[in-house]
Amino acid sequence: MALERTLTIIKPDGVEQNVIGDVIRAFESQSFRIVAMKMLHLSKQQAEGFYAVHRDKKFFGSLTDFMCSGRIVVMALEAENAIERLRTLMGATNPAEAQPGTLRKQFATSIERNIIHGSDAPETAAFEISYFFGKMEIVG
Ligand code: CMP
Repeated sequence: MALERTLTIIKPDGVEQNVIGDVIRAFESQSFRIVAMKMLHLSKQQAEGFYAVHRDKKFFGSLTDFMCSGRIVVMALEAENAIERLRTLMGATNPAEAQPGTLRKQFATSIERNIIHGSDAPETAAFEISYFFGKMEIVG
């Protein structure tokens, strides 16, 4: 399997809980390589653009309000099979269904406040990485 890149976001609830370090420690201990990273506070419009694929869902308004409610940390990660491996490390979207040892089981409090985002497919990862990072910001 070739090296793959994925986009991850430590959401406002993760930053508020001071678990940025715990999340990065988990990435590093599983040999994910951070190839880009920044802290942002999204506008409503920027959050809506990022989650445009969900614009018809009933939770879209609440999700995008939450995502612009505080600071976030955005990273591009590189690893073999990075997309699937990151999703395994994050755990189920709904923390009530997340496996022990996953980041969401440890830190998430609801399906919306679920502390972390990870791309779900190669095409999504390409869009999401380019949404936040220019070519010169990705240090491969
Ligand atoms: P994320 O991986 O960032 O991708 C879309 C997000 O929408 C998801 O995590 C959840 O935080 C949120 N989400 C998904 N389903 C629901 C739901 N039923 N109610 C509220 N938020 C949801």
